[in-house]
Amino acid sequence: MQPVSQTGFRLAPGALDAPAQAVLLNEVLEKAATAPFYRPVTPGGKPMSVEMTNFGPLGWMTDAGGYRYQPTHPATGQPWPEIPEVLLRLWAELADPEVPPDACLVNLYREGAKMGLHQDRDETDFSLPVLSVSLGDTAVFRIGGTSRRDPTTSVRLASGDVCLLAGPARLAHHGIDRIIAGSSRLVPGGGRINLTLRRAGPLA
Ligand code: SIN
Ligand code: MN
Repeated sequence: MQPVSQTGFRLAPGALDAPAQAVLLNEVLEKAATAPFYRPVTPGGKPMSVEMTNFGPLGWMTDAGGYRYQPTHPATGQPWPEIPEVLLRLWAELADPEVPPDACLVNLYREGAKMGLHQDRDETDFSLPVLSVSLGDTAVFRIGGTSRRDPTTSVRLASGDVCLLAGPARLAHHGIDRIIAGSSRLVPGGGRINLTLRRAGPLA
């Protein structure tokens, strides 16, 4: 993996080749048929432009009750589907061989969707990385430091790219400025799907 900046953010461009991307996308869409994408609302009551679902024992949620992880889908009340095996293998290889992830947030960005600069800090422990896999349209990703006022860098994340927020970058501010609509034909209906694996609960 390539270090991208002083922050410790690392990028593996094209870690998944085109056939692997297609297989993973199919699996994601199949699982999303039982745990449908929904539009989350911020604690302040604002609908997000990104649609979300989750895989794994815990799923990241936002609504009027605040940010949290929970074991069930807010609309169906059912447990989230299992994390795809290929993602567990990537995590073991690139993030941690001993402790598996217990949460996989699935973000769907249709044309015009974006995500403001934020930190991933709803997990119990920050010692393991966050691993992110991009599918579909290229995203203009922005990454800064642990302080919101730190300078930021913009990095393009294309389909098949895998990146890691590890070490000093684990609590780096990051977000999606925009999606380059039409830059990939992978996602039916257009857009981008991002999968982020985390260890949300305690390590043992
Ligand atoms: C996130 O921070 O939850 C998603 C980042 C991305 O879409 O690449
Ligand atoms: Mn994040």
